[in-house]
Amino acid sequence: MMNDSLWYKDVVFYEVNVRAFYDSNGDGYGDLRGLMSKLDYLKELGVDCLWLLPIYPSPLKDDGYDIADYYNIHPDYGTLDDFKALLDAAHQRDMRVITDLVLNHTSDQHPWFQAARKDKNSVYREYYVWSDSDQMFSEARIIFLDSVESNWTWDEEAGQYYWHRFYASQPDLNFDNPAVQDEILKVIAFWLDLGVDGFRADAVPYLIEREGTNCENLPETHAYLKKIREYLNENYPDRILLAEANQWPEEVLPYFGDGTDEFHMGFHFPVMPRLFMSIRKGDRSALQWILDHTPPIPETNQWCIFLRNHDELTLEMVTPEEREWLWKEYAPEPRMRLNQGIRRRLAPLLDNDRRKIELLNSMLFTLPGSPIIYYGDEIGMGDNIWLEDRNGVRTPMQWNQSMNAGFSRNETTYAPLIDDDVYGYHRVNVETQMQTPGSLWQTIKGMISVRKGEPAFSRGDFEWLDCNTRAVAGYVRNLGGERLIILNNLSDQVQTISCGMHGQNLIDLLHRDTPSFQKGQIEFQLQPYEYRWLKVQALWELLY
Ligand code: GLC
Repeated sequence: MMNDSLWYKDVVFYEVNVRAFYDSNGDGYGDLRGLMSKLDYLKELGVDCLWLLPIYPSPLKDDGYDIADYYNIHPDYGTLDDFKALLDAAHQRDMRVITDLVLNHTSDQHPWFQAARKDKNSVYREYYVWSDSDQMFSEARIIFLDSVESNWTWDEEAGQYYWHRFYASQPDLNFDNPAVQDEILKVIAFWLDLGVDGFRADAVPYLIEREGTNCENLPETHAYLKKIREYLNENYPDRILLAEANQWPEEVLPYFGDGTDEFHMGFHFPVMPRLFMSIRKGDRSALQWILDHTPPIPETNQWCIFLRNHDELTLEMVTPEEREWLWKEYAPEPRMRLNQGIRRRLAPLLDNDRRKIELLNSMLFTLPGSPIIYYGDEIGMGDNIWLEDRNGVRTPMQWNQSMNAGFSRNETTYAPLIDDDVYGYHRVNVETQMQTPGSLWQTIKGMISVRKGEPAFSRGDFEWLDCNTRAVAGYVRNLGGERLIILNNLSDQVQTISCGMHGQNLIDLLHRDTPSFQKGQIEFQLQPYEYRWLKVQALWELLY
């Protein structure tokens, strides 16, 4: 295993839905043994760390983000022994595994909530947040806008309202209660003792509520998160915490603490919709604006960036006008919209245009932060907007052209396969793309391998390059003496740009043509949506 304590800065993550990946026992549901049998595939792609969506026993009202037992595996996925076997197999391949830690809430089927609602005097009553009225914390927004009317739900059995930031089937835990704080630390210890390499901590801004606030990012919430980190620092110093805080960068900043006392990593949510804005407008301004408004983070921290994930493409971190525009451009059909977002996958969002898919991936692998690939996007999988909630982007992985895309030998599968003319598994599948030179899969594999050879991508600093046109997102990544220049033509027009690179030699990292010199100026013609990754070599380096 890599033993560098900052390992998370260099890894490529892969977000995997165990149910959707590979079914080893033929019941129509993907499982842990199935995922284990595909580790070599992920290794070959260049993945270093898996992030598993929730795998715990759950009534699956929110696809496992409603946990009924923190100490076990959902029977659809296998057993704790299977999980241990998966961890061992991953570690043997120098791969790491982080899991989803859902701490803000449990399922209403969790024994704690069952006990709490039955008996006012039960110790578990105080595990949740109760009120006689539904008027408290009225400044807290509703997150699942399309399906939830209030953050309070009346519980007949309890004779009180209970608080929930998500579905009513997900009562919020009461983090003001020290017993709850201890319970979650026990859960954390249990999974770390099994060998997980860290957690993607779900919905962390909402742990604690206070009247008169929007109940997000409160100091009391940070205080508890710091306790978790302290516990890790003392007992499991090489494991990581990744914050899911869908917030503006200056609000995410405190989740990094002083670099050693809260999270190691945080998702950079607002970058993502702006990548889609930039490519649709052929203009880097939106992307530049958000990166210019991203404060520096401590050396030991790292952003996580992504193009898509298992949720709707969230538009919470854009202005109302930008949201309307993004909806108009990317979600023309009402079924494509959900809550404040868009329930579509990467390839359909980009009209299945290979140039655009590659271009966004070029930015994913070269902008500051550790990249996360959402399963299936490496082959350009499609979606099914007719499935409920976010299930349309959680369909079975497409392995080959055989029955059920080689995902399952069972006649029926947990969700229908994508089987249309454009994205169906006869056309879009792993096997074909692995065998076809120049396929999307091959291209992404190539990008990952180049990224890993140049530490400036993962640890270097970032500067915009003035390209005389906003149509090109050009930037420099610097680390020590290493200098990388990345050019992304966001537009559908040829762009000619020149860079003053006096006395320097450029190497094309993606092994295309080396650009020509013109008296110290280097001229590039970038084709529509073309990207170049270049490494600067000073001439004196070559001479001496
Ligand atoms: C996070 C998850 C989402 C889930 C919610 C509630 O936002 O990404 O899938 O529904 O938390 O747990």
